[in-house]
Amino acid sequence: MKWDSTLYDNKHSFVAEYGKGLLEFVPVDKEQRILDLGCGTGVLTEQLLKYAGYVLGVDGSEDMVAKAKENYPDIDFEVNDALKLPYSNEWDVVFSNAVFHWISDHDLLLKNIYNSLKPSGKLICEFGGPDNILIVEAGFTNVLKEFGYSYKSKFNFPTVDEFSRLLEKNGFIIDKIYDFDRPTPLQDGENGLANWAKQFLKTELEEFSEEQQNQILKNFESRVRDKLWNGKEWSIDYRRLRVVAHVEK
Ligand SMILES: C[S@@+](CC[C@H](N)C(=O)[O-])C[C@H]1O[C@@H](n2cnc3c(N)ncnc32)[C@H](O)[C@@H]1O
Repeated sequence: MKWDSTLYDNKHSFVAEYGKGLLEFVPVDKEQRILDLGCGTGVLTEQLLKYAGYVLGVDGSEDMVAKAKENYPDIDFEVNDALKLPYSNEWDVVFSNAVFHWISDHDLLLKNIYNSLKPSGKLICEFGGPDNILIVEAGFTNVLKEFGYSYKSKFNFPTVDEFSRLLEKNGFIIDKIYDFDRPTPLQDGENGLANWAKQFLKTELEEFSEEQQNQILKNFESRVRDKLWNGKEWSIDYRRLRVVAHVEK
């Protein structure tokens, strides 16, 4: 998917804001090197500097990396695919917020992270867990059906058991793994859900003309309003999965 870094920074800063909770699992050690995997526009990469001597942000999107460099010119950022990481035994911590659900092959992802970590390195990550955005995707599926389109989720939201098995298969020792609900209010009042869809369901919306897109978004809002509109803002049904794991090579 093509990312819109300006829309991300202006309307969806909550993603990185919530990611700050994950920082509490990162040990502080000024000798260590941290890789921020899927760094987006760099908000958490900058926070990670407080925990390490060196931090590198990598992301698959050129647009996101360009924005991260513009936001934080003193930090290193690179375009890199998480499934083709060029590192071997280099990082004390691989940190990642809100990225893994965009990646269909978690087995290959974890192999890449394992190879990138130093012999006693840590993986600290959070992403969409089982039944994340269940109401959102059900509503969107039904609306797109009215327009003759069959919505197939591109997200990968594993269960704790599924992800634990993959971690262990790839040589990780699990320190913590759990999932939890995180109902997430969207900014911008009435426009919040449409903004969210334009960012995160962009690929599907782009199949339609602008006029159709506006109608789809209206119908989508009507479908989910009773469950997700709380009278003053949209609050969507996020559920997250958190992991702290280490390797012993
Ligand atoms: C929701 S954003 C999260 C950004 C940042 N971690 C934050 O908390 O704000 C998801 C990011 O994952 C990146 N991403 C998705 N698939 C990727 C892949 N295969 N390799 C590297 N980055 C990827 C996207 O480009 C996007 O910047």
